[in-house]
Amino acid sequence: YVEKQNNQSLKGKKVIVSAAGTREPIDPVRYISNRSSGKMGYAIATEAASRGAEVVLVSGITNIKAPENVKLIKVESAREMQKHIEEHFADCDITIMSAAVSDYRVKEVASQKIKKSDEVMTIELVKNPDILKGLGEKKSDKQYLVGFAAETQNVEEYAKGKLQRKNLDMIVANDVSQAGAGFNVDTNIAKIITCDGEIKQAPLMQKTELAKLILDTIEEKMNK
Ligand code: CTP
Ligand code: CA
Repeated sequence: YVEKQNNQSLKGKKVIVSAAGTREPIDPVRYISNRSSGKMGYAIATEAASRGAEVVLVSGITNIKAPENVKLIKVESAREMQKHIEEHFADCDITIMSAAVSDYRVKEVASQKIKKSDEVMTIELVKNPDILKGLGEKKSDKQYLVGFAAETQNVEEYAKGKLQRKNLDMIVANDVSQAGAGFNVDTNIAKIITCDGEIKQAPLMQKTELAKLILDTIEEKMNK
């Protein structure tokens, strides 16, 4: 049979991909998290590695098996994720933040398991750092920065706002209220919006295919 010809279009490039949801501890046995599966990020990491890139995959908890040819860094909280991404950022060419980062963390994590008491309980949360925004502030002109936006309404408008606010080169927006898009499914329906104002509306497709389209678009824009 004929093996599919491997294109090595990302050879010599260092790519950071973040994937899956972060976990914010409440006490030793509990945490706050979200429904992100990590499928999109793992598909991107796999595709980038197959194109010859040096891939650092900074991943929240998921049971997806990581491809062997990537450097896998497993993290739990948003702040841990930030630390590892920033350690690798300086010499990286492309950064793709597909992780679902918790916007807030528990203000005071209990050192012992919290016992139940009153009928109503309140947990105080504080804002996490915006990892992507921090990267946008320090990136050089040569570094390509990609964010994701998961929205349930006004998808394009909110996504464009994030592209600008976080100084991104591209944002991949998806309407997670649509069947076949977003969290914990194998498919996605995305809009790829770039800082030059172009918008590509991708049809319903497998996340593995969307990963290729995202990387094709990044390569196309970087080589301009
Ligand atoms: N992101 C991040 N750090 C955070 C929150 C989000 O790096 N603390 C990144 C995500 O990985 C994603 C992008 O920012 O690439 C947009 O995330 P999203 O949750 O859609 O947007 P937010 O800016 O958090 O705004 P909101 O949740 O209020 O819509
Ligand atoms: Ca958010």
